[in-house]
Amino acid sequence: MTQDSSLFVVTIDGPSGAGKGTVAQRLASKLGFHLLDSGAVYRAAALHALENSADLSNEGAVLASVRAVQPRFLQDDGQIQVFIGDKDVTVELRSERTADAASRIAAMPSVREALLQLQREFAQPPGLVADGRDMGTVVFPQAQLKVFLTASASERARRRHKQLKEKGTDAKLEGLMREIEARDLRDSTRKSAPLAAAEDALVIDSTSVSIDLVTEKLLQEIADRRNIAVP
Ligand code: C5P
Repeated sequence: MTQDSSLFVVTIDGPSGAGKGTVAQRLASKLGFHLLDSGAVYRAAALHALENSADLSNEGAVLASVRAVQPRFLQDDGQIQVFIGDKDVTVELRSERTADAASRIAAMPSVREALLQLQREFAQPPGLVADGRDMGTVVFPQAQLKVFLTASASERARRRHKQLKEKGTDAKLEGLMREIEARDLRDSTRKSAPLAAAEDALVIDSTSVSIDLVTEKLLQEIADRRNIAVP
């Protein structure tokens, strides 16, 4: 895959709840870059399959449903709104039911292949911040900066719990922890594009480092690589 040299691509991969989404949003809005939340791409595809009652254990049926879905992503100051047809599915995408289905269909190689082009189209000047599991390893292997952001499972469960609570959803911490661990295991042991840091990724453990500090560090890193002042 070749990449336009006037384009600066930052990839942020890592397990769920490590803070990738928040860091990616903040970087994109500070830098005026496009934003790809690739988890939302998988979630939209999964939601569509669920709504069509596709059998999630049948790769052919899921693929047919995924090929038929054309999610639209509207970006406004770092926030992304997702539509399937005319329906705003932004809130629905965040449910644990959709997340679990996303993780299941994401293990299917033909589904990953079918979603590649859609994700690569986000790479437009002046730049892109893409977050997910395989952004640096598969989707944008020539990215100028690759980050692997991680945190302990208990810290990630705690953060997810807080996030859900703020949105008015009451979820049990232990349940979230179990779901996170199950999803981690499935994401990192699947055959197709397993969750892994790219060889040339900058690995950051955010367990005891604030998201503000991680963002600052990355803004500095990007400014250094672009040879410009920190925005
Ligand atoms: O990041 P998020 O929790 O929204 O992702 C939902 C699921 O989509 C993940 O558990 C993972 O299985 C899948 N995913 C993926 N590759 C990506 C982004 C998400 O496999 N690049």
